[in-house]
Amino acid sequence: MISPIVSVPRPGAPPGATSLVEALEGGAVLMFPDLDFPFSAFEERFVERPFADGKAKNVNIRGEAAELRGAAGTPEEQEALRQVLLRYRAFAQGLIDRYLPAYTGKLTLAGTSYRPFDVDRRKLSWRRDDTRLHVDAFPSNPIGEKRILRVFRNINPNGQPRHWRVGEDFGSMADKFLDRLPGYSPLSAKLLAALRITKARRSEYDHLMLHLHDALKQDMAYQESAPQADVHFAPGQTWVTFSDLVMHGAMGGQYMLEQTAYLPVTSQADAAKSPQRILAAKLGRPLR
Ligand SMILES: [Fe+2]
Repeated sequence: MISPIVSVPRPGAPPGATSLVEALEGGAVLMFPDLDFPFSAFEERFVERPFADGKAKNVNIRGEAAELRGAAGTPEEQEALRQVLLRYRAFAQGLIDRYLPAYTGKLTLAGTSYRPFDVDRRKLSWRRDDTRLHVDAFPSNPIGEKRILRVFRNINPNGQPRHWRVGEDFGSMADKFLDRLPGYSPLSAKLLAALRITKARRSEYDHLMLHLHDALKQDMAYQESAPQADVHFAPGQTWVTFSDLVMHGAMGGQYMLEQTAYLPVTSQADAAKSPQRILAAKLGRPLR
């Protein structure tokens, strides 16, 4: 099954949907067509040209201090951009509180990013090429028993959509790739953490997800022929998905805001729908 896009009109739930949490945990992308996130006249400049130093993929704030990283511009402009990101972080929290109240108090907000570059024009290695269908996994940042929930918003000023591909459901994808992945070594996971190559111990789940991410991106036959659908998110639209579960590729578009949040697997309405439990079920044993 290809991941469904569920449009959520204001103020309530989509027609026919029993629960937004159920849809989300089942692998849907929730799309909110008309939530307000206005820019001031001064802030309009952030969608007229990229305020980025160009060294990193995007500009972001992280943690309590919310220090701005990767930005360009005068000190006044950089502070204004930081305020946009702080406001977006509050917007994402408000969206969760209003539409996904079961997660309130359980989610932890992580990085907030401003992505001012055109997807198409960046020449990246296959591993960093996010136009290829993938699930998110971070090499240096083990995720363990947490889920990755992301809140995206297209802020393009010229009507340009954010063009995504979404792929098949996680379980069907895993059936095709799980046999090909190398075995997990607790010893090398310990070593990576001791050498501070990873920020924490890489679990078997992290190991499998990293290798799935790479195997997917390297398999051009799968990229071209796997079940998939094109989705265009118009400016002003906001969309929310578990990016560790939903197969996605970013094909085009410029200027986007993104908030990452972590949710413990045990805080899900149904933990069995997590990639952690899906992979364990397929292997027929708990992950190490
Ligand atoms: Fe991604």
